[in-house]
Amino acid sequence: MQTLKDARVLITGGAGMIGSTIAHLAVAQGAQVTILDAMLPLYGGNLFNLRGIADQVRFIQGDIRDPELMVRVAPGYDYIFSLAGQVSYVDSNTDPLLDLDINCKGHLQVLEACRRANPRAKLLFASSRFVYGRIEYNPVDEGHPFNCLSIYGIHKLAGEKYYRFYNEAYGLPTVSVRIANPYGPRQQMKHSKYGILNWFVRLALEGQPLTVFGDGQQRRDYIYNEDLAAGCIALMLSPGTEGQVYNLGTGLAVPFIEMARLVAEAVPGTEVRQVEWPQDRYFVETGDYLSDISRITAVSGWRPRITLKEGIKRTVAYYREHRQEYW
Ligand SMILES: NC(=O)c1ccc[n+]([C@@H]2O[C@H](COP(=O)([O-])OP(=O)(O)OC[C@H]3O[C@@H](n4cnc5c(N)ncnc54)[C@H](O)[C@@H]3O)[C@@H](O)[C@H]2O)c1
Repeated sequence: MQTLKDARVLITGGAGMIGSTIAHLAVAQGAQVTILDAMLPLYGGNLFNLRGIADQVRFIQGDIRDPELMVRVAPGYDYIFSLAGQVSYVDSNTDPLLDLDINCKGHLQVLEACRRANPRAKLLFASSRFVYGRIEYNPVDEGHPFNCLSIYGIHKLAGEKYYRFYNEAYGLPTVSVRIANPYGPRQQMKHSKYGILNWFVRLALEGQPLTVFGDGQQRRDYIYNEDLAAGCIALMLSPGTEGQVYNLGTGLAVPFIEMARLVAEAVPGTEVRQVEWPQDRYFVETGDYLSDISRITAVSGWRPRITLKEGIKRTVAYYREHRQEYW
């Protein structure tokens, strides 16, 4: 299998959950890794996420919205994982201009910097299942209509289109991934605006009940962050992925209530409570979501390896040990 050995890798948003997990894998494969992260307080940037590799990566505290910085930073890399982002769909609806600023304008700055200073670097953009919004059928393939239910989804779709445009117009090798529901170690645990599974782990570890809206039968595709990071690297290294977009999930749908029960099982004594749907949440409820991952597996051979039960077990163990770094 191809690896990142000796590759020069830049990870924007690399102090966050997904970026730092890619950094750990890339360092293990022998890559030279640089991380650029603005460490914005609302998101998951945490230097503790780099524990064990901190002395093997270069860290730049900086913002992708800074054009001069991006032109200075862009040269010299073979691969750029473009993960910096406003991550909360909830906040995107209350502060749409911030979402526009980071998820659209910021990414245009990255693309412009690469066009001017490093047009050969392959770029991977982190999009989201939220581009599909209201789901019409399952499993969801990449041809599913875009019924966006949030500003976040609309801007992620625009981001994908920017990356594709720079591929078609200027020949930049770009690829986008539509990520399902990620979870695992290294995610922020400060708030529940994104990453509900991790938030349930926090509640359980604090001895609080897990509240499930409605019957909890809505199905989700939860992907463990190490599987997700390996999938991003596999797409980066696979020829023929340029200009394309791929779903990145497990291809397995789990009812929300079952996920909550697995968390409760991993933290004995946790109560799972069912209540009515609050009105504001109902609006963004997308329906069941299950990724069709046949395109990514066909092009890269990648497959998820960690079961939900095992991933939850590892996540609970991580936060039991390191909660003071995340609470
Ligand atoms: N977590 C999810 O549920 C999810 C789902 C689908 C897609 N994604 C996308 O994957 C990417 C990584 O998300 P994550 O889960 O690791 O979240 P995270 O919050 O852990 O990481 C995001 C990182 O981006 C950094 N960042 C934000 N704005 C920046 C800017 N302007 N310049 C430089 N750095 C900036 C933050 O400081 C943070 O470290 C994001 O683009 C996100 O939208 C996340």
